[in-house]
Amino acid sequence: MKVLVIGQGGREHALCWKLSQSPRVTNVYCAPGNAGTGLDVQNVDIGATDIARLVSFARKEKIDLTVVGPEAPLVDGLVDAFLTAKLRIFGPTKAAAQLEGSKVFFKEVMRKGNIPTAEGRTFTSADDAIRFLQEREDSSHVVKADGLAQGKGVIVCSNKVEALDAIKRIMVTREFGAAGDRVVIEDRLQGQEVSVLAVVDGRTIIPLAPAQDHKAAWDNDQGPNTGGMGAYTPAPFATPELMEEVETKILIPTVHTLKRMGIDFRGILYAGIMLTPQGPKVLEFNVRLGDPETQPVLMRLKTDLFTLLSAAADGRLQDLPPLQWDPRPALCVVMAAEGYPGKYDKGHAIRGLDAAAQLPDVKVFHAGTTAKGDQVVTDGGRVLGVTAIGNDLDDAKRKAYEAVKCIRWQGAWCRKDISDKARSPR
Ligand code: AMP
Ligand code: GLY
Repeated sequence: MKVLVIGQGGREHALCWKLSQSPRVTNVYCAPGNAGTGLDVQNVDIGATDIARLVSFARKEKIDLTVVGPEAPLVDGLVDAFLTAKLRIFGPTKAAAQLEGSKVFFKEVMRKGNIPTAEGRTFTSADDAIRFLQEREDSSHVVKADGLAQGKGVIVCSNKVEALDAIKRIMVTREFGAAGDRVVIEDRLQGQEVSVLAVVDGRTIIPLAPAQDHKAAWDNDQGPNTGGMGAYTPAPFATPELMEEVETKILIPTVHTLKRMGIDFRGILYAGIMLTPQGPKVLEFNVRLGDPETQPVLMRLKTDLFTLLSAAADGRLQDLPPLQWDPRPALCVVMAAEGYPGKYDKGHAIRGLDAAAQLPDVKVFHAGTTAKGDQVVTDGGRVLGVTAIGNDLDDAKRKAYEAVKCIRWQGAWCRKDISDKARSPR
């Protein structure tokens, strides 16, 4: 079987690595991929949102299954184009991808399905949003640009002044362009966050092992929001009882509500959840695998990923046996470029990848890298996802950071405390 993975980050490298382990898979292609996918599978020089060329590549190469990594092509209708061309693909349609593509739509689905989430209001004018905030007590809010903004359109505010400034950035200065035509203002919730990802085929929902991301740039959850600086799985406070609650109160009603709205959800349903004193509440839905959660989650998955994703694409998840997991925890440390999540340079030579690759129970997934002659050079903000599996979380952490120590480039940095939240729940 031939598989095409679309995207170029750490999540896609992990997908390629896992799919190529399947005895049923003969070829894995990654479009456009990075230096790491270029070593493990075959890169194809087509951008992730170049839908027409992706369709013709899949047709010409007789690809048996296409797997989409990032949200942008999903929101643009990549899956619809593949289905129209009668090509097998795993991912949600354009209509279903609105769950991630529009925060306003997300809030509407939560309301219709009576699904626990933060209180929120939608605004289409800056004046109305400002008036609303001025009339509220000085409490903390989260201001969210409606559309996709590479994870940067969510501004967590501690007071009214910050919230008013966020409205100005989104709706007046239009820092995120048309993504800021509408905003959602939510009450700010407090608690531990957990990422619950599930494979969905329209009817059957199979949750993956729960993970915890680290969204803030610096240790101790300080600093600006990022795409994610590290993740580990399983997250200990996502107990079997909590997972059951998430399934019955959040995942099932979301899929049903979408169905009532005429939308069949096939793909990954990723609930970003906060554990509040009133129970789990949804902060956001994504419609694709998380990055960096995918890296440690796939390291633990024993079930054949090709079999799982093709069953989901065909609407046959109910026929599968339960997923098999390595019981050992896994952990991913993101190594980033100097300046990320702000401005950063590219093109620094990365050294020590071979030494890191020698270490047992470690896999260095590439994210923002590219090949330049014989060298691997930096090509993005999040550069590598150094991932390890261990007998317990301490062991996985020690192994991952030992591999981090082997790797150098000018300006490389990472958080030093990935998984410490598991040991001292807030
Ligand atoms: P999102 O892009 O919606 O995932 O939001 C990014 C991050 O902002 C989340 O992972 C949370 O850390 C934070 N966040 C979003 N909504 C809220 C909320 N209502 N209360 C507190 N934090 C939030
Ligand atoms: N790790 C957060 C995300 O993938 O959106």
